Amino acid sequence: MNARLMYRILCLGGICVLAACEADPVTPAFSGLDAGPDAARQPDAVLPAGDATPVDAAVIPRLDGGGAPDAEPDPDLGAVDAAAPDAEPPPGEGERLYIEFCAFCHGVYGEGYVSDNANALANPAFLATATDDFLRKAIVHGRPGTPMPILGAINEGPLSDAQVDLIVDHVRGWQVGEPLDVHGEVIEGDPARAEAVYAERCADCHGAQGEGGEYMTVANPWFLETASDGFIAHAIRHGRADTPMEPWLDASGGPLTAQQVNDLVALIRSWQVPVDGPMNMEYVPDPENAVLNPGGADPAFTRREGRFVPAAEIKQALDDGQRVILLDARTRAEFLQLHITGAISLPHFDLPDYIDRLPRDVWIIAYCGCPHAVSGRAFDVLEAAGFERIGVLDEGLWHWRDQGWPTSVWPEDAPAP
Ligand code: HEC
Ligand code: HEC
Repeated sequence: MNARLMYRILCLGGICVLAACEADPVTPAFSGLDAGPDAARQPDAVLPAGDATPVDAAVIPRLDGGGAPDAEPDPDLGAVDAAAPDAEPPPGEGERLYIEFCAFCHGVYGEGYVSDNANALANPAFLATATDDFLRKAIVHGRPGTPMPILGAINEGPLSDAQVDLIVDHVRGWQVGEPLDVHGEVIEGDPARAEAVYAERCADCHGAQGEGGEYMTVANPWFLETASDGFIAHAIRHGRADTPMEPWLDASGGPLTAQQVNDLVALIRSWQVPVDGPMNMEYVPDPENAVLNPGGADPAFTRREGRFVPAAEIKQALDDGQRVILLDARTRAEFLQLHITGAISLPHFDLPDYIDRLPRDVWIIAYCGCPHAVSGRAFDVLEAAGFERIGVLDEGLWHWRDQGWPTSVWPEDAPAP
């Protein structure tokens, strides 16, 4: 998407909504990957991480944050109390939440591939077969081990059930055409027979066992928990127009046979394992005690493009006993599952609430797994607040882990004092 978007914040009675308007002509409906599959492989070239959305999380108040911070409700307008649980959500609230929490990966219009090869949520073939329950659970439970965050309140995430429903309604609004009831289809296939076809035709994009490929996983436990066999078969047969996912059984009967598709569904289904229960662990961030090596010297980091610090420099600084704060910008649930030892969990959307408690004279390095779409947003919030000693861990958490450098699972280690 090359079109430039502008945003306006419209406020009424203390409630502000974000309105996207177009500077150049923009197609609000799904238009596929305008720039073609090659551009999809370089999402950073489409919209740089960190700048991925012009919306500043610090500017837009959260629904549960009690309305706009500096707008006095005008009693004549009959102000709606956004903090009241049974208050009607303001119009456009689903869109506002989508833009704050989703658009920087999935695109403002659900066109996908803005960061992390996040799929096209507005794709007609996807929306026709994705039920509301499928969408809701993807948001609440995320796709652990992929960049798709865990966002539901039941998992210590920022979104209430009501907010999740508003986002689902907003996404549903992009649907063109009728829903397809594919979910009752009984698929009979032989996983063993599909292995060679999968390795030849699918593994490059989806990974050898459905994980670790260039594009979305097809073995993620929460995906398989919520996707019916019919959903999976439909995706394989018809593909997802205007994305790298081609149709594998078109009207002319190819390139795969109907039985080969069924065998592939059986193979993908064979990778299913039970999902984890909700995360519910007590963790209270302690910004005043977040500095690692508080008595140490300051590191001399070099920043690529004024923001990215190589992981090796950060590791060296820690080994040398230099003082630094490692800020995990992902959701709390993701932090609890795995984080860099000694890091503090301050999800990028919560950062404004803690920013006054962070020191300005100590280097703060934000990281995420993406490798830097989410940490880039934390950087932007700190930068807007005037912090100067800030950086983004360039290669992301998974690179750090793959080097064998220290990572921890909560609550085995409390954040280092
Ligand atoms: C060139 C890369 C590529 C190849 C090859 C490919 N896929 Fe895909 N596949 C994708 C992408 C990209 C998507 C997501 C498209 C979107 O909706 O944005 C996808 C989506 C899917 C989905 C839906 C997943 C979901 O969560 O919605 C399934 C199932 C799937 N592919 C199975 C297969 C199988 C089986 C094969 C081999 C026959 C295959 N794919 C080959 C790129 C590929
Ligand atoms: C940091 C980037 C990022 C953010 C933020 C994000 N997503 Fe995702 N999302 C992804 C990626 C990447 C995937 C594919 C995960 C995989 O490989 O299985 C995904 C998968 C999904 C899926 C499952 C699609 C399918 O076919 O299986 C849905 C639905 C979804 N996201 C909706 C949302 C919504 C709604 C939001 C905001 C509330 C959101 N996402 C926020 C990156 C993101």
